[in-house]
Amino acid sequence: MEKRKEITKGKAKSVYATDDPSKLVLLFRNDTSAFDGQKIDQLDRKGMVNNRFNAFIMGKLEQAGIPTHQEKLLSDQESLVKRLDMIPVECVVRNISTGSLCRRLGVEEGLNLNPPLFEFFLKNDALHDPMINDYHILSFRWATQEEIDQMKALTFKVNDILSKLFKDAGLLLVDYKLEFGRYNGKIVLGDEFTPDGCRLWDAETRKKMDKDRFRQGLGGVVEAYEEVALRLGVPGIGA
Ligand code: C5P
Repeated sequence: MEKRKEITKGKAKSVYATDDPSKLVLLFRNDTSAFDGQKIDQLDRKGMVNNRFNAFIMGKLEQAGIPTHQEKLLSDQESLVKRLDMIPVECVVRNISTGSLCRRLGVEEGLNLNPPLFEFFLKNDALHDPMINDYHILSFRWATQEEIDQMKALTFKVNDILSKLFKDAGLLLVDYKLEFGRYNGKIVLGDEFTPDGCRLWDAETRKKMDKDRFRQGLGGVVEAYEEVALRLGVPGIGA
């Protein structure tokens, strides 16, 4: 496999073409950003930690029957993935109230959400990722009803698998965002699953172990990601 030219550069990852048109290389950079790119920084080791973390989680999801784009780890900061036709929506599931949910609805932080909440957002930084519903997706033909149903079902299945995985590591999976795409007519999980795109709290102390440490200027961002990775047993992290 040969890495070719850069196709897109996101806020924390770059995407490269390869000599195989059905495969891409994802480069996890040390760049970190919040508030639609208004707050940015470079954090040592973040690219490596997130690349390994993501490969580990994607592997667990595949084992549990979720189709993902992950093919293999290529290096500390690179992974080989399937090239998906991405659907421009973000699928968010929330188990505990926090973040934009509390700001939008004025609800208290830390409430257990039973059943868990599902929300769609349009992937559009310039518009600050507005919340949308199924009808927007259908009317603008971003996805079909069948694809919407599959994205929801897969996102909830991920919740069952990962809530248990994190619980066994003494962590609460508070909420997370997933992105899907099409591959050979099938809906497949793309993008990443790392502490950049989810919220994880220590189950005992409720200490934040995710990107909220960066958003809220709490410090120890990569150290918290590494601790989560160590607790999960992600290969190649820590001593
Ligand atoms: O900000 P909000 O509370 O809506 O975020 C819900 C979840 O989705 C959080 O885990 C957050 O990290 C993730 N998210 C994301 N990328 C976005 C928006 C939210 O990863 N653009």
